[in-house]
Amino acid sequence: MPPSPDYAVDLADHYDDWFTPPTATTDATVALLDRLASTAPEGPMLELGIGTGRIALPLAARGRELHGIDAAKAMVEQLRAKSGGGDIAVSIGDFSDVQHEGRFAVIYVVNGTFFELTSQEAQIHCLTRAAARLLPGGLFVLDAHLPEVLAVGAGAGSQPVQTASGDPVTRTRRIHPTTQRYTSDYKVVHNGDVRHIRVAFRYASPGELDLMAATAGLRLRERFGGWSGVPFTDSSNYHVSVYELPA
Ligand SMILES: C[S@@+](CC[C@H](N)C(=O)[O-])C[C@H]1O[C@@H](n2cnc3c(N)ncnc32)[C@H](O)[C@@H]1O
Repeated sequence: MPPSPDYAVDLADHYDDWFTPPTATTDATVALLDRLASTAPEGPMLELGIGTGRIALPLAARGRELHGIDAAKAMVEQLRAKSGGGDIAVSIGDFSDVQHEGRFAVIYVVNGTFFELTSQEAQIHCLTRAAARLLPGGLFVLDAHLPEVLAVGAGAGSQPVQTASGDPVTRTRRIHPTTQRYTSDYKVVHNGDVRHIRVAFRYASPGELDLMAATAGLRLRERFGGWSGVPFTDSSNYHVSVYELPA
């Protein structure tokens, strides 16, 4: 099993304060996933990298049957402590193995988490294992930054990040084109203490994602320019890609 990222081990109790997107993004994510689930076959949903349940819990509150996988016990403990957190079946392990009992109508991975698999091999493995766990006609949904936008952001130096708590957080991205990797270095000031957290990623273009998904037997059904469901255009800086296992 890969080591859990530092933020998920040491800072799980601060994750919701420092690392979650604004509430409007969370609400839009839940709404679009719920809408997509209503176009999929009847069946449960599985979140890869379920974390503290930011997305899974509101989806469960909408009546969806939710399951999850995460490597970090500390994150899952946060989920368990929340209302409804005891009702979600969570496997502890590497989500790229998609090792969880059952077949699913929708498998999803959000908040840029797919790119936390830091090799092409791991990303293809994940897509292949997910395809094997989908019901016929089931959906695999991921969100991701566009490489071009990451490169611009990396050139911009340290940037402020909007946080739920209002604690000052800045992020510095560094891109390594030779390996298609990038790192995000977060600096958090909390009660006068300064914390540094590094997260490593491997980026892929939409075209490479489509090719990796095709290798796994999945085909692109639709691509949005963000969780609000806007069209994907040349001005998009983010995408939500919906793959389908042919029925
Ligand atoms: C950025 S957080 C997102 C959490 C949640 N999906 C959300 O949107 O709030 C990523 C989560 O994925 C988990 N994670 C990262 N890489 C993993 C891996 N290879 N296997 C299992 N979990 C992993 C981390 O422990 C963390 O809980």
